[in-house]
Amino acid sequence: MRKKIVAGNWKMNLDYAEGVSLFSEIVNMIRDEQKGTQVAVICAPYIHLNSLAKLGGTTVKIGAQNCHQNESGAFTGEISAKMIQSVGCEYVIIGHSERRQYFAESDALLLEKTNIALKNNLTPIFCIGETLDERNNGSYFDVIKSQLTHGVFALSAADFAKVVLAYEPVWAIGTGLTASSAQAQEVHAFIRNEIAVQYGAEVAENTSILYGGSCNPKNAAELFAQNDIDGGLIGGASLKSRDFADIVKTFNS
Ligand code: 13P
Repeated sequence: MRKKIVAGNWKMNLDYAEGVSLFSEIVNMIRDEQKGTQVAVICAPYIHLNSLAKLGGTTVKIGAQNCHQNESGAFTGEISAKMIQSVGCEYVIIGHSERRQYFAESDALLLEKTNIALKNNLTPIFCIGETLDERNNGSYFDVIKSQLTHGVFALSAADFAKVVLAYEPVWAIGTGLTASSAQAQEVHAFIRNEIAVQYGAEVAENTSILYGGSCNPKNAAELFAQNDIDGGLIGGASLKSRDFADIVKTFNS
């Protein structure tokens, strides 16, 4: 059975004290709330990871928001997957649209990052999604298929089975414009079908596909009730303990 995951992405927000404080509130609010297949994750800036991994215990898992594609070396300012894993992180976001857009991260680079994350026992949360233009001109299925093909479909079936996908339509990120549950389900079903074509029905059935983009406590229940939506990647609402906790609890209602 595939995992249900609610992952917060704090992006470049919160100083150290603010991060510890928010995280402690979240842990207290959702302790004892998760069921067997359900996981809560916070993907924090690098400086928080070591402390949060110790505070999270079994209640909240920790993820990074990026990693370098090399194991180690002369890459001033970068952080490796091995370093991230060494402080107790279990997840890493790869290919967020903000990385693709502002840091020109290509599908080929993202495949390298996914490989190094897997090698270091991190679960990649691999992001895909179309821009507003691509949605409006009807090319979004082609865009998503291309991101999958050049990003993660080069992995072996055994490696792909360890990847979590996140569908984040760029037009819904930070805009308050959520994809409707029908729009999101349509794309999630398409993604699962593409996985089935590539790796077979069993791998497709077991892959968690999260939705991201203006997800909040009001719309989470309807989104998560869709057949192919297995949770969310939450930006703004993960910066408010009550909102994030309420989204996590959505799975229990
Ligand atoms: P918002 O929830 O703020 O729209 O951000 C979504 C996102 O980018 C999560 O990775």
